Amino acid sequence: MSSIYLPLTGSSGGFSASLYALLVICPAVLMYNYLSSIGARPCAPSVELTTMPGVRVSKILIHPLKSCRGISVQHSRYTPEGLEYDRRWCIIEAKEKTVITAREFPKMVLITPKIEGDVLSISFPHGSGCEPFSLPLCPNQTILDRWERLEKIMMWHVPFDAYICEALPSPPSRSPSAVLSSYFGRPVHLVYKGAQPRACDPTATHPKLEANAVFQDCFPLMVLSEESTTRIEEELRGHVGTQGIDERWKTESLVIERFRPNVVFQGAGPFAEDSWEEIRIGSGPIISMVSKCTRCLLPNVSPDTGERDKAVPYKTLMKFRTGFDPQDKMKPCVGCNGVPSANGEIRVGDCVAAR
Ligand SMILES: *[C@@H]1O[C@H](CO)[C@@H](O)[C@H](O)[C@H]1NC(C)=O
Repeated sequence: MSSIYLPLTGSSGGFSASLYALLVICPAVLMYNYLSSIGARPCAPSVELTTMPGVRVSKILIHPLKSCRGISVQHSRYTPEGLEYDRRWCIIEAKEKTVITAREFPKMVLITPKIEGDVLSISFPHGSGCEPFSLPLCPNQTILDRWERLEKIMMWHVPFDAYICEALPSPPSRSPSAVLSSYFGRPVHLVYKGAQPRACDPTATHPKLEANAVFQDCFPLMVLSEESTTRIEEELRGHVGTQGIDERWKTESLVIERFRPNVVFQGAGPFAEDSWEEIRIGSGPIISMVSKCTRCLLPNVSPDTGERDKAVPYKTLMKFRTGFDPQDKMKPCVGCNGVPSANGEIRVGDCVAAR
């Protein structure tokens, strides 16, 4: 041990060590702090993947309640099941115990979750007659043991367990199930995912895929380049007035939130993600791109009004975004589905490496 410390305790060794600290470590720390303060971490060289200069994470979105409004965050931890707090909650039909989405109930997108410390607060649009309520953000086993456990809820015909959520005492409210049932005008429950894993289906490129999801549609993470929606918007402008595409689309922008991505990139160009097999964000683990994200009519629902456009963007996507998913060539694709190989953390401004 002493041989390690000796050079630093000797007088000349001590001098060179402090000089080293002054000349090398301090500037590196200052640079790191500066980059952190602007939200960008320096790019770690990636061994197997190619760092793409100028490509950065520009937005991170989590959607704690499936199909409800997303939350834009500056950083997020993740596990192989997805971003922390992303789609850990969902709403089910009280009788059939099936998961409901904004495909059937577009006004779900107006239900607004907010993370405040260790509390998840849920609020509703003015005039809905629904009072806000709060939930524990990380219900531990003591809390879950007090909630009713449902052995079997169904999502896309796959059964697993869940807990019926109860509200925190403050603010005073009816039960989440009662508030949401009055919002939807039908009996529903708010549930928290149980411990039973929900396995993802294998894909054409990953026939042996071993991954689990929470209440995401199919896979843990969805990634999308900002320029992709810009490209869709350009295509859209060219078809205004045809196929039921309203005149307002001459100027209205197609916000990326419609596509409900988790990680948004800037700088890679339209649909760059289509050609990525694996990515690394910052110094995180490898994230495998397992499939293209096929699209239904959900992006037609405006995240601001909860109204569904009859044509946009679905009809535009049908013109130039089909043929990308080998399992369903008729479905339009936007964005890619990813599976992280381990836990990690991402931050807005992080570099991206890809293969
Ligand atoms: C669970 O959380 C509650 C509320 O925050 C706390 O009072 C309790 O001690 C926790 N129980 C365990 C086992 O950590």
